[in-house]
Amino acid sequence: MHITTAVAALCIGVLPKAAHATASGTCCSALAATTLKSQVVYPGSAAYKISLGSYWAENVQLEPTCILQPRTAQEVSLAVSTLVAADGGACKFAVRGGGHTTWAGASNIVDGVTIDLSLMNSTTYNEKAGTASILPGSRWGGVYETLAKYNVTVAGGRSGVVGVAGFLLGGGNTFHTSRVGFGCDNVVNYEVVLADGTIIEVNKDSHADLFKALKGASGNFGIVTKYDMKIIEGDKLWGGIVTYDNSTTLKHLEAGHKFINNIEKDPYASWIGMWEYLSVTDQNMVANALEYTTPVAYPAAFDSFTTIANTSSSMRVANLWNLTQELGQASGYRDIFVTGTFVNNLDVMKRTVDIHNRMIEEAKAGAKGDDYTMFTMIQPWPKLFTDHSVERGGNMLGLDRFDENLFQVLIDYSWKDEADDALFNQLANGALEELTTYSKSIGADNEFIYLNYANETQDPLSSYGPENVKYIQAVAKKYDQTGVFQTQVPGGFKISAVGK
Ligand SMILES: Cc1cc2nc3c(=O)[nH]c(=O)nc-3n(C[C@H](O)[C@H](O)[C@H](O)COP(=O)(O)OP(=O)(O)OC[C@H]3O[C@@H](n4cnc5c(N)ncnc54)[C@H](O)[C@@H]3O)c2cc1C
Ligand SMILES: *[C@@H]1O[C@H](CO)[C@@H](O)[C@H](O)[C@H]1NC(C)=O
Ligand SMILES: *[C@@H]1O[C@H](CO)[C@@H](O)[C@H](O)[C@H]1NC(C)=O
Ligand SMILES: *[C@@H]1O[C@H](CO)[C@@H](O)[C@H](O)[C@H]1NC(C)=O
Ligand SMILES: *[C@@H]1O[C@H](CO)[C@@H](O)[C@H](O)[C@H]1NC(C)=O
Ligand SMILES: *[C@@H]1O[C@H](CO)[C@@H](O)[C@H](O)[C@H]1NC(C)=O
Ligand SMILES: *[C@@H]1O[C@H](CO)[C@@H](O)[C@H](O)[C@H]1NC(C)=O
Repeated sequence: MHITTAVAALCIGVLPKAAHATASGTCCSALAATTLKSQVVYPGSAAYKISLGSYWAENVQLEPTCILQPRTAQEVSLAVSTLVAADGGACKFAVRGGGHTTWAGASNIVDGVTIDLSLMNSTTYNEKAGTASILPGSRWGGVYETLAKYNVTVAGGRSGVVGVAGFLLGGGNTFHTSRVGFGCDNVVNYEVVLADGTIIEVNKDSHADLFKALKGASGNFGIVTKYDMKIIEGDKLWGGIVTYDNSTTLKHLEAGHKFINNIEKDPYASWIGMWEYLSVTDQNMVANALEYTTPVAYPAAFDSFTTIANTSSSMRVANLWNLTQELGQASGYRDIFVTGTFVNNLDVMKRTVDIHNRMIEEAKAGAKGDDYTMFTMIQPWPKLFTDHSVERGGNMLGLDRFDENLFQVLIDYSWKDEADDALFNQLANGALEELTTYSKSIGADNEFIYLNYANETQDPLSSYGPENVKYIQAVAKKYDQTGVFQTQVPGGFKISAVGK
């Protein structure tokens, strides 16, 4: 058995000393020698345990030497300055928002310091400005709950538990994207702590190059300590989850294919198609998340779904706080996400579900554990999304170079038994490879890879196109001349790794 640092430290009962003994212990000591002392937590403490346990995927709960939990942008600034200066620049650290990335080391680190922003989780409504100021440790559920008191909302996550910080830095697909673009397209101002510790406001008039770069290019420039988002008036939707027998698959694919090509006719409608296998009940089913972003039931845009016989429906008028509690997926599993983007082509959709069914059979034959879930999700990615991004000043995703309506596949497997790690990674990888090869063979492939759903082995930043890669490189160099966020903060998708 792997003896964790926490357990080892408990056994010998000298927590801070055990930490100080390593090179990264020097970095923790440097932080503890400042006014941040009370915010540094070590293995063995309750705060450390809660922080690790609050990563969504169990496989990313790495054990850093210490965790720093800053309360303000000033504390984040002091932390960055301290970590850059300490130990001759050898300190490694990670930056963590909600901690929902499924691959280990994106927002956590071994032998280093994790800056956990979770204490910075308030949301403030600025009625006059029509914005909400959201701190980076927030989860979308808390944001919606706060804003619902004013009958307003923002374009954010579709699952309440998901973190705001990483979501907005990677784009952010929302129920409102057909109306207002991605989550990032609705950020009007960022407060950012740079590598040299300065705190700057970033918007279309101030540091406009960084403003654009932060919309999709993730943690390559600094630590965002506040997001000001444009609000959406009215917080009620008609939405929920509708389940069906999997024999209705073809009808859903036909309906979904048509839906994507018709989104422009009614941008209030949002659909996520989910093919889901639960080992515990041995159930293979289809589920739709149908959301209409104004409180009108049974809009015509959903007719081709609502005419399919369902087995259950939770459709109702509710606010996002309520609806996004339902769409949460259980935490505490080992998880893999991999993703691909394709032309809106019915044959690719059919192949997606064929492969899904085959992978279920392979899991049944090979899994050692008996508790696992296999999701394959189909999500619209129409040209209309990008048109809204462009209207709002543009982002880094590079989708404007594509003319066609697209759809996205998210392969999302969760399992309990560590002994099944290799199996589920192999199945997920096999599924994506087969789908990619097939889509290429019929000219329905697309090179875009959505960063927020990508595995470590994928290369989403390259998929933004060579022009945007150059832009991101230039902005990263300008705001972080010594490359702190490339080398001292190794986690996440790094622009310096593109082309390597
Ligand atoms: C259950 C579930 C539902 C989801 N639903 C959606 C959805 O509806 N739409 C969608 O688009 N995506 C969705 N996602 C994907 C989600 O957008 C990503 O997992 C995203 O990274 C979550 O943000 P986070 O803050 O929790 O991530 P973290 O893992 O904390 O961070 C992600 C990356 O951003 C960096 N980072 C975090 N905070 C900062 C900061 N303040 N400054 C600089 N860098 C920072 C981290 O270092 C890391 O590299 C979902 C994921 C899950 C698990
Ligand atoms: C902020 O985090 C604390 C601690 O986890 C939690 O109790 C509180 O509800 C959160 N606030 C919001 C607005 O989500
Ligand atoms: C929000 O809407 C409800 C019902 O429509 C109304 O009763 C309430 O006064 C509104 N609240 C605010 C703050 O506008
Ligand atoms: C329904 O599920 C079963 C069992 O997993 C599978 O064999 C079958 O191919 C599925 N049918 C469709 C239409 O997807
Ligand atoms: C689900 O099925 C019921 C019963 O047939 C039907 O009344 C309802 O409209 C369906 N709901 C949706 C959202 O399709
Ligand atoms: C959502 O609202 C419905 C009523 O519309 C209520 O029954 C349900 O408990 C609410 N769910 C949550 C999670 O708040
Ligand atoms: C995901 O990335 C990890 C490395 O972080 C790798 O070991 C694994 O095989 C990858 N899985 C898939 C499905 O690509």
